[in-house]
Amino acid sequence: MSRLIVVSNRIPGKAPAAGGLAVALKKTLSARDGFWFGWSGAFAETPSRDAKFETIDGLQIGSIDLTKSDHQSYYAGFSNSILWPAFHLRLDLTDIHSHWYEGYRRVNVQFAEAIAKHIQPDDIIWVHDYHLIPLATELRRRNIRNKIGFYLHIPFPTPDALNAIPHHEELLTDLLAYDLVGFQAQRDVAAFNEFIAHEEMYRQAGGTPFEIEMGNTTLDAFPIGSDPEAFAKLAASPNAQKMYKRVERSMNGRAMILGVDRLDYSKGLPQRVQAYEKLLENNANLRRAVHMIQIAPPSRDTIKEYQVISDELDSAVGRLTGRFAEPDWLPITYVKRAYSQASLAGLYRLARVGLVTPLRDGMNLVAHEYVASQNPENPGVLVLSRFAGAAEIFHDALIINPFDTDETAEAMRLAIAMPLEERKERWESLMKVAQTYDIDNWANNYLAALTGDTQSAVVDD
Ligand code: G6P
Repeated sequence: MSRLIVVSNRIPGKAPAAGGLAVALKKTLSARDGFWFGWSGAFAETPSRDAKFETIDGLQIGSIDLTKSDHQSYYAGFSNSILWPAFHLRLDLTDIHSHWYEGYRRVNVQFAEAIAKHIQPDDIIWVHDYHLIPLATELRRRNIRNKIGFYLHIPFPTPDALNAIPHHEELLTDLLAYDLVGFQAQRDVAAFNEFIAHEEMYRQAGGTPFEIEMGNTTLDAFPIGSDPEAFAKLAASPNAQKMYKRVERSMNGRAMILGVDRLDYSKGLPQRVQAYEKLLENNANLRRAVHMIQIAPPSRDTIKEYQVISDELDSAVGRLTGRFAEPDWLPITYVKRAYSQASLAGLYRLARVGLVTPLRDGMNLVAHEYVASQNPENPGVLVLSRFAGAAEIFHDALIINPFDTDETAEAMRLAIAMPLEERKERWESLMKVAQTYDIDNWANNYLAALTGDTQSAVVDD
């Protein structure tokens, strides 16, 4: 069986607990030979082109250090102040500085040089996420002829948003240096095709469009998933139960509403708190009968927009508390810290309502994990944004528009009031979906499409 080389900005062991990518790929790679390559997490005075290899959690990991200034341009700059907001349709939050693109490309060159030395002829290379769009171009320049696939974990933008990204033509050309470009959802494949249609329209109107040469690149949706059986087991494990029991005691019979998100403006957190405020405003009977827990580990906090969203959430929570709290009841517990998977699984299991209400999201694995953690005899209800990739598959969640806080508040009310029979029916359907779209199927389907070999199932079902 061919070796698999996985490349992503972050490597396992150094990724934050709430980030989905690392968790998802660990299992795939541990089933076959190869290595995972990424940024070491350390800085060097001069850029290094030689990978260091080590074994972390039984996985072979190769990494390089970056200079502080390259890392700033590549990660906080081009990747997270231009690509991330634009791909999430937040052009108002982009911060464009032209030299960041040079740093972004330099880091991709550095990755390519370090990786190329370790590639064997049969290796399959699988590159992940928006930090590394140019990597295939740079590997091809170094005579790497292997199959190279790309997977985008975040949504693909609309034509206007794509057009607002400096050098987007080059980035599109870079994408087409891959053999396979995988997206989270059909919505994203449609957005890519829409860009092509948009350029064609422009040509017909007499403009000079960007000529996109599809070559041999295949595009398709491969919705990512979790390991639902493992999560179900974890949720019932002693470690998860410790958290479950502790919080259950503090709930004192109240229904718990839970959100778990990286502290990111794409997650719709202030809108969520506002919707909860409306729930309490419109349903006096629910005050004291419910309690919301929002867990939001800080993320990318050197970037101004992340400080802004953090402040916004602080004031939304403060306003809500000031308005509804009583000396012996708080409407919300807001925790700005990361928790272990086991603790989260315990909390998911206890939550009567799981809120996954991003304004735009690639997939959102919290939705999968929440479903997998439920007690089949007494499951909670998933309230899910129609703008998460997960909404394309989880049809039996309560689907909401997160910009409509009345609708979100009403979905929370319905979820709390939902009879056991309906909760069970919905949950059974959601759990089947989580099992169908699990992480093994995702990796198998993607790698089979990349190698063109349907026999190359790499992970057992
Ligand atoms: C999203 C991205 C990942 C990223 C994760 C955490 O899930 O798709 O590529 O690793 O967020 O963000 P961070 O910037 O901390 O790596």
